[in-house]
Amino acid sequence: MTEDRGSKEAGADRPLVRVERPARGPDGPLDGVALVTLDRPEALNALSFRLVAELADALEALDGDPEVRAIVLTGAGGRAFAAGADIREMADGTPESLAAKGSFDRWDAVGRLRTPLIAAVRGFALGGGCELAMACDMIVAADTATFGQPEVKLGVIPGAGGTQRLTRAIGKARAMELVLTGRSIDAREAERLGLVTRVVPAEETVPAALELAGRIAALPPMAVRAAKEAIARADEMPLSAGLAWERQAFLGLFASDDQKEGMAAFLDKRPAHWTGR
Ligand code: HXC
Repeated sequence: MTEDRGSKEAGADRPLVRVERPARGPDGPLDGVALVTLDRPEALNALSFRLVAELADALEALDGDPEVRAIVLTGAGGRAFAAGADIREMADGTPESLAAKGSFDRWDAVGRLRTPLIAAVRGFALGGGCELAMACDMIVAADTATFGQPEVKLGVIPGAGGTQRLTRAIGKARAMELVLTGRSIDAREAERLGLVTRVVPAEETVPAALELAGRIAALPPMAVRAAKEAIARADEMPLSAGLAWERQAFLGLFASDDQKEGMAAFLDKRPAHWTGR
């Protein structure tokens, strides 16, 4: 039974994740930006173990490349960012079999990236797809996007951050309602609740995310990474520890060439030339 269901993964012999770098914006290649696409549209980009492993490998490789200063993550096909973890693959699992695979560990790779990561969400971001979007630093959503954590309807709960990141993003009262009922929300409601950074017309989703990534990639990377890490720590630390960490990071940047250059350029009234050191 398990094998029958598991073997139905479409596109078994082609990559399920595409990487374009540099990504191409409307005006040509975008310096320092990579575009990563979940490429399993026939299953609404359902996040099989193999797809997640390929995604983690791709993102970790990009994160280790100093030429890559911002990443956009999207789903192929336009109908979905990702409709969740692959239900077919999990259906016959037991606590032991699913833990033994250890494959859920790869989901955590996204939250460990140091490079800014922007989700460009068109269509469904449900279950693990919503969790994946929330593990990114920002979400640019199509006006047709749908977000939700429908896991209770399958007899489980979110398993990759849905109860934790959604609660931090929109607060306990609203997270409780969404997770306990499995209700989906549209892009405008997601924007009102503070889940997404920006809502744009569907066809502009990836270009808008690339444009945002391009603006980040043009800035001094040490400062950008420190800023990302400091904000991420706001969820992890008590305020006093977070403030202390922020101050240390701020002071540390005064050892960088880019700080000297940035402040000198301001005082000289000229554009800064960043070296990333
Ligand atoms: C496997 C999936 C899938 C999924 C869609 N498909 N979602 N396959 N896992 N999560 C497949 C369908 O089986 C179908 O394949 C094809 O994609 C198109 O989907 P349809 O259902 O025919 O499309 P539509 O009728 O338009 O409905 C779209 C939908 C629905 C509302 C998004 O597909 C849906 O409810 N999907 C499941 C959403 C969900 O419950 N996600 C949470 C999963 S649990 P075939 O071969 O039939 O054409 C989870 C836990 C995370 O994410 C834990 C992380 C650690």
